[in-house]
Amino acid sequence: MKIITIGNNKGGVGKTMQCFQLVCHLANQGHRVLAIDLDSQANLSSTLGVNIQRTLIPEWLIGDVKVDEILSDAQGDYDFYKNIKLIASSRHMANLAKLLILSESEVRKNAGRKERLMKLRLKEVEDMFDYVVIDTPPMLGDELIMSLVASNLILIPTQAQDYSIDGLEELMDTFEIIKETENPALEFSIIPSMVNPRRKIERIRLEELGQSFNVTPTIRNLVDMQESVALKKPVFMFTNNSKGKQDYKALWDSLGLN
Ligand SMILES: Nc1ncnc2c1ncn2[C@@H]1O[C@H](COP(=O)(O)OP(=O)(O)O)[C@@H](O)[C@H]1O
Ligand SMILES: [Mg+2]
Repeated sequence: MKIITIGNNKGGVGKTMQCFQLVCHLANQGHRVLAIDLDSQANLSSTLGVNIQRTLIPEWLIGDVKVDEILSDAQGDYDFYKNIKLIASSRHMANLAKLLILSESEVRKNAGRKERLMKLRLKEVEDMFDYVVIDTPPMLGDELIMSLVASNLILIPTQAQDYSIDGLEELMDTFEIIKETENPALEFSIIPSMVNPRRKIERIRLEELGQSFNVTPTIRNLVDMQESVALKKPVFMFTNNSKGKQDYKALWDSLGLN
């Protein structure tokens, strides 16, 4: 079971978009996929057709609720949706911090530290899935940190703009700390996302990004992508002249995610 986190402490960089495209792509390849939405805004959950009143993710993480109580079937028009299970989010995800404080001694007894809770829970579903893909909220909080401790890979969508590139340093520091302490096998890939290559400044920033990091092929800012989410139709279902389809194919090929 391979565990992939999509993360960036900045919002609006295309994390949830990437998650949706990846989850559908892997399911379409015949893999059994678990999608986990850790963002209280629940955008991934609604795009996968699941709207719930109250998520029990915090209770599941601390071990009060079994996994079958929080697994939903993804709902969509295509056959591959049958390969996708979802752990859906809701506004109640915000209770996580409070619950972690209240159950601190219990957590310490079972997991040692709260950072290890996701890893512990995902061990319990190891035989049920080929891939776990985790969408995270735009901050360096418990959700992202526990996902990184559990993951093999973090995909970091980044825009080719000044503030985005500055924000990356903070995220990379966290990555390094987790790699040195809890998860030496953790890898990362930086994905230039929502790029407008007709703008000179973005081309310059993209080049700078490439000088500091090894970056993947670029995902452009495209109408295709907005249509894809609105219609709940992943870009690989689009016709071959769709630029979104071409960009994502190049990305998954480069990452060996087939
Ligand atoms: N490659 C893209 N081209 C055009 N629009 C995009 C692209 N990727 C994402 N978007 C749109 O940008 C907005 C933010 O993307 P989203 O995936 O929700 O970001 P995040 O999860 O990082 O906050 C959404 O409205 C989404 O539909
Ligand atoms: Mg999001």
